[in-house]
Amino acid sequence: MTPRAPLRFPAASRSDEAQVDDGFGRELLQGLTARPRSLSPKFFYDAAGSQLFDAICELPEYYPTRTELAILATHAGEIAQRIGPDAEIVEFGAGSLRKVRLLLDALETPRRFVPIDISGEHLEGAAKRLRAEYPQLPVHPVVADYTRPFDLPPQLPGSRRRVGFFPGSTLGNFNPQEALAFLQGAAHVLRGGGLLIGVDLVKDPAVLHAAYNDAQGVTARFNLNLLQRANRELGADFDAGGFFHAAFYNAPLQRVEMHLVSRRAQTVRLLGQQLPFAEGETIHTENSHKFTVEGLRALALRAGFGIGPVWIDPERLFSVHWLPAAQ
Ligand code: AVJ
Repeated sequence: MTPRAPLRFPAASRSDEAQVDDGFGRELLQGLTARPRSLSPKFFYDAAGSQLFDAICELPEYYPTRTELAILATHAGEIAQRIGPDAEIVEFGAGSLRKVRLLLDALETPRRFVPIDISGEHLEGAAKRLRAEYPQLPVHPVVADYTRPFDLPPQLPGSRRRVGFFPGSTLGNFNPQEALAFLQGAAHVLRGGGLLIGVDLVKDPAVLHAAYNDAQGVTARFNLNLLQRANRELGADFDAGGFFHAAFYNAPLQRVEMHLVSRRAQTVRLLGQQLPFAEGETIHTENSHKFTVEGLRALALRAGFGIGPVWIDPERLFSVHWLPAAQ
């Protein structure tokens, strides 16, 4: 993956722009000419990919979503107390917005909700539904790639603190260096408030393997959608049947890796280039890092956060951390 610049916090907002160039063509070409070949997992989430991800979250094998929802529901009161009244909630990578509803329902006078997402379409739909449900709450979606420098709207005068919400173990998509850079940027923009972050825990590899190799093949379709997206948006000629989904736990690096493996020797045309694939050659499409409580806390401390309480389900599958950010 490319190194990411830390977040900064200029004044203007980009929410008026319908869509930002997410760099799919440029990064795909770059990633496919590099060795090993790789592509950032942020490109999974076009309209089709977002739908497939929603389907993944319903799978019996994919425990993270329902486990995190249960943790948030069980401890909402305690979490809301930590956050305090009159907070402005900034969600990094607003997905279905189901999780933040649990938070908003428990919070005392939340002042504004600022969801940030790379997919403008997905974000607008979700923001519209949330506005209908919370007519009192200003919702200010920002279309941006939060793995790169981006703009946040200035804090509302009535809000007392800015609180980040980063659920779903999305932090696990970053390599450790990128995760540190993201958390450093977050500690800066959230100073005086804090970050509520959900991360998946290290566990029995068999449980991890099942979660990323579901029986219905939804995760495989999610992975292969990257190639179909390249065909749709960039006029590439990937034969999606010429590649297969592979996912495995890399224990020394504490991460699940997803790859697309070429079934045979083949040449793919993309943006005027001919890209040869040998049989068995892979495109590395995702890392999903798993954490220990101590590991996440050490990372948070290095990034400038303090240490707060952690909430964990009875099976110890998933963790939700409150990380205070000093003024
Ligand atoms: C959204 C990045 C947390 O890593 O588990 C689900 C994405 N990939 N199944 C994860 C994903 C395959 C998910 N994150």
